[in-house]
Amino acid sequence: MSTAAGLHPGRVLILAPRGRDAVVAKEILRDARLRADICLDIEELLQEIDHGADVAVMTEEATRGDIRAMAAWVLSQPPWSDFPFVLLTEHGGGLERNPAAARLVSMLGNVSFLERPFHPTTLVSVVLTGLRGRQRQYECRRLNEELESRVQERTGELAAVNRQLLGQIKERENVESTLRQMQRLEAVGQLTSGVAHDFNNLLTVVLGNLGFVEKGLAAAAGVDGKLTQRLGYMRAAAERGAKLTDQLLSFSRRQRLEPRSLDLNETVVNMRDLLQSTMGGTTHIETQLQHSLWPAMVDPTQLELAVLNLAINARDAMQVGGSLTVETDNALVGPPLRPEEPPAGEYVSVCVSDTGTGMSEEIRAKVFEPFFTTKEVGKGSGLGLSQVLGFAKQSGGGVRINSRLGEGTSVYIYLPRAETETAKFGPAPLRATWAGAPRNATILLVDDDDEVREVTRAMLHELGHIVLEAGSGGAALDTLKRHAGIDLLIIDFAMPGMNGAEVARLAHAEQPNLPVLFVTGFADRGGLASVDDAFIVGKPFHYDEIAGKVQFALGAGAGNVVRLRR
Ligand SMILES: Nc1ncnc2c1ncn2[C@@H]1O[C@H](COP(=O)(O)OP(=O)(O)OP(=O)(O)O)[C@@H](O)[C@H]1O
Ligand SMILES: [Mg+2]
Repeated sequence: MSTAAGLHPGRVLILAPRGRDAVVAKEILRDARLRADICLDIEELLQEIDHGADVAVMTEEATRGDIRAMAAWVLSQPPWSDFPFVLLTEHGGGLERNPAAARLVSMLGNVSFLERPFHPTTLVSVVLTGLRGRQRQYECRRLNEELESRVQERTGELAAVNRQLLGQIKERENVESTLRQMQRLEAVGQLTSGVAHDFNNLLTVVLGNLGFVEKGLAAAAGVDGKLTQRLGYMRAAAERGAKLTDQLLSFSRRQRLEPRSLDLNETVVNMRDLLQSTMGGTTHIETQLQHSLWPAMVDPTQLELAVLNLAINARDAMQVGGSLTVETDNALVGPPLRPEEPPAGEYVSVCVSDTGTGMSEEIRAKVFEPFFTTKEVGKGSGLGLSQVLGFAKQSGGGVRINSRLGEGTSVYIYLPRAETETAKFGPAPLRATWAGAPRNATILLVDDDDEVREVTRAMLHELGHIVLEAGSGGAALDTLKRHAGIDLLIIDFAMPGMNGAEVARLAHAEQPNLPVLFVTGFADRGGLASVDDAFIVGKPFHYDEIAGKVQFALGAGAGNVVRLRR
């Protein structure tokens, strides 16, 4: 390798303090087109090495003084470096007879010995070998640095991928926990719906029989006032039970909703007085209404109940003198982060905010569970927010809670935006008419619960009708075949095997004009969605209610027979 000027690119340093040794060596090297510089002592040699040199040629005498600085320099070399030294020894001073030289080997590492006198070519070739070795070291350093930067690059990439992976794992954990919570709520929903259904049957029996006892007592002479009062307590308790059952059904999303296009601003304005009396005089109530609010598709009664539940919670969370805000808005909602939130989309929201205690994250995680309450016994049943969530979800929306401990709570109910301003009704609802309704009608009563059937039969009997009974859909269809002249079919909707809607369908196949009245603790939306409310009796029912509906159904005649969607 040589430069353009013909000089070798390496640089040689010479340390030979005695006589003309240094000059002679320099001349020999220069003749071989090697660049060489003379140093006067070890200190200068080390400085020049640091400035840039590739081989050092030293005489043995130069190393006889204090060479600790040189030893330290050799040790401090980076891992890639092993600086080459050429040591010119005395004649006959070979390693085997020269312990000082042996010490230099271990101290300097990369040393070549050249015994004087030497032929110039020998010096040149030893120096060239040293220079070549040094070039290899430089190459090694370059490769090493390149490798290091690639390793760093890769490490950076790996760290980024790792961060991404951790993010994905976290996201998956969130999704899984949301899913688990949803499944839990769903399971609790199914359970409560079953319990509520049984309770409705029990309450129908209790309330129905209470009605008879009350009537019987009223008819008997000398009624005991105390006894009547006690019966009143029983009725009040049973009716409270019916209300709780209703809320359970609403949580399990199996209540009958009658959604219609509604202006939530109007609902809020109409509720103001009710809210004020609920909250008491010391609470300041504010409404913030969005003026260009979209219409919402919602059942008005359930919505009012939900807002009332939220207001009661707000009242309980506030000290005297707090403030309640009811707000309406159009909302564009992103993907849900919690199970109670609605799917992404356009909603109309109504939000109830308070300046109360707020909730801890721990409590917040449980508030939608039925029967979860932090209120003292007798004060809360833990069903308020269950109703709110059940109703919102069944309506096709959802709920969101923002709460800060010590600062207050906002609960948003999201309801689906109605497509049109006009209500999405079917035909105009039928009004019950009493005129022309026959007495002494023959009614086929179908219910799988013997006690419910018995109390219903007694009520119908009181109304002056002839009652045929069936404990199942199959038995009912048999009776229909055998008996001519049945005027009305009253069917329990939820029965094992064939449900009420199926029985009605099969009955209509035989007798298309037979009026049908459904009795139900809850209604599957799909099952009875197309049936007008006039032909549905909710459990537990009052004597007056069943009386009115039976009369209406009998009077409805051939023209108004309930048709079920096929
Ligand atoms: N606005 C609120 N501020 C603070 N905590 C609240 C608020 N709303 C609900 N909570 C907490 O959530 C719990 C459950 O509320 P939820 O309405 O379901 O039942 P409840 O109010 O305890 O009883 P119920 O409504 O059946 O009478 C409450 O007991 C309370 O701890
Ligand atoms: Mg409540």
